Amino acid sequence: MPSLCLTAQQLASLTATSPPHRLRGAVVEGFGRGSKLLGCPTANLDPASFRGLLTDVPRGVYMGWAQVGGAGQPVYKTVLSLGTNPSFADSREDTVESYLLHDFPGDFYGQQIALVIVAFMRPMEKYNGLGPLIKAIERDVRVGDRALDLDQFRAFKEDDRCKSGADSNANSSTSA
Ligand SMILES: Cc1cc2nc3c(=O)[nH]c(=O)nc-3n(C[C@H](O)[C@H](O)[C@H](O)COP(=O)(O)O)c2cc1C
Repeated sequence: MPSLCLTAQQLASLTATSPPHRLRGAVVEGFGRGSKLLGCPTANLDPASFRGLLTDVPRGVYMGWAQVGGAGQPVYKTVLSLGTNPSFADSREDTVESYLLHDFPGDFYGQQIALVIVAFMRPMEKYNGLGPLIKAIERDVRVGDRALDLDQFRAFKEDDRCKSGADSNANSSTSA
């Protein structure tokens, strides 16, 4: 089993997405597995917000920064998946699912979320059973939490997209 204690060099070598990808849109309901089965409630981005975008971007797990609710709201660390969820037979369409590294009292359905995706962490994997998937996501959270503190990734917390808020240009997305 790989160590959870990555060196600073390993963390820094995570592949930065250059330029970072910026998405924004409404939070929609997924299958509900994140909170019920995985202990990892995710904010699922409205597919209309990224349709036709990120088509040449590798499917996998990324890290970045997220802001829910628009201008002035806090910006949190996030690890997120882009692609189908191959561990589940019913998952055929690409989704963007963001797990925010913060405890929230409720869900975000209907709210606007702005994402700045700064680095690729790993490819999407097909896991046999919930246990290995949960372990992988826990590891993503640990690695992302540490890596986003590095200067080159922390800098994007102040990204204009987050500063200007998620509600000023709802349902638009860019990849630059
Ligand atoms: C950080 C992170 C990593 C993930 N990695 C995988 C993965 O490797 N394989 C996979 O099938 N799904 C992966 N997922 C997607 C989860 O399976 C998905 O978020 C979960 O099933 C909840 O989906 P739902 O919101 O539609 O219920 C990942 C999600 C997150 C947030």
